[in-house]
Amino acid sequence: MKAAPAEIAIAIRPRGAANPTYRQLYTALRAAILEGRLRPGVKLPSTRDFARRYTLARGTVVTAFEQLKAEGYLAGRVGSGTYVSEVLPDGLLEAGPVARTGQSQQSRQSRDETRPRKLSDVARRAQAFAPSTVAAARAFRANQPALDLFPTTLWAQVAARRLRRASAALLKGCPPLGHPPLQRALADYLGASRGVTCEPEQIAVVSGAQEAIDLVIRLVLNTGDRVCMEDPGYVGAARAFAAFGASLSRVALDSEGMRVPDARDQEARLAYVTPAHQFPMGMTMSLPRRLALLDWAHRSGAMILEDDYDSEFRFTGRPVPALQGLDRHGCVLFAGSFSKVLFPSLRLGYLVVPSDLVDRLQAIKSLASRQAPVMDQAVLCDFIVEGHFGRHIRRMRQVYAERLAVLLRTARDHLGALVEISPVEAGLQTSLTFRRDIDGVAVTDEAARCGIEVIPLSRYASRPLRRDGLLLGFAAVDAPEIRRGMRGLAPILKHARRRTVSRT
Ligand SMILES: Cc1ncc(COP(=O)(O)O)c(C=O)c1O
Repeated sequence: MKAAPAEIAIAIRPRGAANPTYRQLYTALRAAILEGRLRPGVKLPSTRDFARRYTLARGTVVTAFEQLKAEGYLAGRVGSGTYVSEVLPDGLLEAGPVARTGQSQQSRQSRDETRPRKLSDVARRAQAFAPSTVAAARAFRANQPALDLFPTTLWAQVAARRLRRASAALLKGCPPLGHPPLQRALADYLGASRGVTCEPEQIAVVSGAQEAIDLVIRLVLNTGDRVCMEDPGYVGAARAFAAFGASLSRVALDSEGMRVPDARDQEARLAYVTPAHQFPMGMTMSLPRRLALLDWAHRSGAMILEDDYDSEFRFTGRPVPALQGLDRHGCVLFAGSFSKVLFPSLRLGYLVVPSDLVDRLQAIKSLASRQAPVMDQAVLCDFIVEGHFGRHIRRMRQVYAERLAVLLRTARDHLGALVEISPVEAGLQTSLTFRRDIDGVAVTDEAARCGIEVIPLSRYASRPLRRDGLLLGFAAVDAPEIRRGMRGLAPILKHARRRTVSRT
């Protein structure tokens, strides 16, 4: 345990300034952490001592500490004080380039304050992708395929051939919704593998599922419109809706997936769901629930955004047809991605829309980015049409099924008494729910100290969960690394402390 430096430079402007005192304290402490003046593991004085030392109200200090805890900069240990987190949110300490811009800390801060808070949160998370923070995968990296098994040489050959043959037309560009041969290949693929029924013209090639969410927002929402989404659910979608100014209504899950929104949500304009493999809990939405959700959308005049982000990998059970293929009233927008099935930096995905929205989507996409990069689209198209894509999926499905089996076996052996393991039918990750009321954030911090990556399920929930748990990826690393992770996780869970706040 390291003690805090005797004095931490904190300049607080007088009361009454537009920026409240707790916020100034929060900003000053966060800056001290990011700049390394307060190092990971350092113990802070108690809120009482802190308030006395800096002549602040204790409530001000408590509020600032709570905010920093909620964002992962500080960690509190019952009975033993408050510490600077060992693992800062998204590797923020390594966000070096900011310091090199030559701007004064103060001018950076004031610009930060003027930016809408919802967006500054997003910008902060984007730092996770600074090259220096993208470390080699460890157990249990989630949301990532086995990048070391991607056939890069084959991809390079396909790309080189396409470039050599590139026509002037290909160098010029393509229609906003995409390279027509790729649209056709996608229509065939989605029809055969996902039961999606559409014409190629209804498919937009987009920069990943995240852009699909953004385009849908602009396609169907007005500021203030109500959007229903799963709780827990995908944070990237919740942030996009909130940043746009939508009013979010979080809908609980049960074993069949998201419940059908109730009377409160009759006014909703959009429901966002991950039916093939609920993110993050992992269940597959049952057929009766799919039909009930479609019926709700039809009766209430809402649209459904079906995010099919990783369903290519299905290990057990019969594939359930996409909502889109069951829809008889043109309510469903279907989004998917090549990030998990090929590699994330490709930044290609698709959005399938009902035919009456095609013109509008075309205009929106054209204004946003003209079109997705045509050369990448053409290479991807060749990769699919020549059969490499299908072969890659089949090979990876086998690898992931083996890795999943190792994860489930070792979880049962090492953690059986401590967690409930959800049945996994699809995807690249699974979730464990604690049997005891323990603190998922504290477990995550401790695991990170042992070189194990987990994500607390509470991070995806808008309300305290009855029991927290962990999201574990099994695709990105091999069996020995999964075993190492599970051996390391067992003592951490055994000795984990209870949550301090009572949960509903
Ligand atoms: C549920 C879900 N939807 C969408 C995305 C965005 O994926 P993409 O990389 O295609 O933008 C992710 C990314 O992890 C995700 O987990």
